[in-house]
Amino acid sequence: MNNFSFYNPTKILFGEGQIAKIGKEVPENARVMLAYGGGSIKKNGVYDQVVKALGDRLVSEFSGIEANPEFDTLCRAAEQVKAEDIDFILAAGGGSVIDGVKFIAAAARYDGDPWDILTKGGKVIRSAVPFGSVLTLPATGSEMNSGSVVTRAEYKAKLPFGSPLLYPQFSVLDPVTTYTLPVRQVINGVIDPFTHVMEQYLTYPVGAHLQDRLAEAILQTLIEIGPEALAQPENYEVRANVMWCATMALNGLIGAGVPQDWSTHMIGHELTALYGLDHAQTLAVVLPANLRVRKADKMPKLVQYAERVWHITEGSDDEKAEAAIAKTETFFRNLGAGTRIEDYDLNAEVIDTIIAQLEAHKMVKLGEQQDVTPEVSRKILEAAL
Ligand code: NZQ
Ligand code: ZN
Repeated sequence: MNNFSFYNPTKILFGEGQIAKIGKEVPENARVMLAYGGGSIKKNGVYDQVVKALGDRLVSEFSGIEANPEFDTLCRAAEQVKAEDIDFILAAGGGSVIDGVKFIAAAARYDGDPWDILTKGGKVIRSAVPFGSVLTLPATGSEMNSGSVVTRAEYKAKLPFGSPLLYPQFSVLDPVTTYTLPVRQVINGVIDPFTHVMEQYLTYPVGAHLQDRLAEAILQTLIEIGPEALAQPENYEVRANVMWCATMALNGLIGAGVPQDWSTHMIGHELTALYGLDHAQTLAVVLPANLRVRKADKMPKLVQYAERVWHITEGSDDEKAEAAIAKTETFFRNLGAGTRIEDYDLNAEVIDTIIAQLEAHKMVKLGEQQDVTPEVSRKILEAAL
């Protein structure tokens, strides 16, 4: 097992009715900004519950944070935080709103050009406005980690950044808030955490037995309950398990002391920035192709994945690996996600553009061995057509 430091200060309030507890978590005298997206929280009752829980505090609002949150929008919000002397931000929504609030929290306390935050991957962050979240779309893990991804449409750039100052102080996870999710977002909410686990698990063995078993547990749980989450939208137990899987998939626990890949994500970000695919749709396209192209390097872990997660015990190592990759792709397809570039009305012509953007964003040495060069990314995209 590799050396690691593990730190995660986010308090989780899990379960039905937990939004009411926010009142105890936000400082009594705080001037609060309630930040949210396009209005789903007004339709499903989350907004009313949050406002009630905040009680008599001074609350201003910032709405309209987009899916794949946009730099210009977030800069406007940061200006509002400064102008109104806000000292606590509450994010209510999915990963985009929480990611957006992380950027707002940092940008409001940053004196330079906020674009630096993205181009330097968060390294310039010295301070951030404290914030908490109410999660309504389990998928990204943003509710319990310190990372974020922000888009600047003008540059067709979607860039990750992070800072230890960007953990939410608390996050409320009430599975009931997910009952109103559209089918497409439920699918995304299974594929994104599944891929988060794969980015941290499907690399090469370092003798991290517990991390491997935890990763396999999350994968197996998602395989088991993903279809149930679609079939039974108001099954509390199922939604609760999906929600906790998504959080556990990217809160640092399974990634401690192990190599990490993330090339599927970085290639996927370019697909979203250029062609507007949902984040998880890009992962459904890139992950199976990535595993196929890099099968030889990943063989020991692919065999372990095949045997332990998919219970494939027959055949050679290569046959097991192939079968496990096929099972992965079929799992995504059966959920209802397209797993091929052509499923999204795109074709081979997009590959040159994606490669050029990866190069422009310095995504030229990706993967656990930094050997996913633009040539390898090209092979992955060709395998994903
Ligand atoms: O904007 P509103 O009206 O709230 O509607 C949203 C949005 O249209 C809707 N929605 C959310 N909760 C709902 C709901 N509709 C009905 N009922 C509810 N309960 O769903 C739509 C999509 O929301 P979004 O927040 O964009 O989705 P998701 O949570 O998948 O977040 C995706 C973003 O997170 C980033 C992605 O790149 C993408 O920008 N990621 C962040 C990560 C992190 N911080 O660690 C890691 C991930 O790998 C990912 O990159
Ligand atoms: Zn993701």
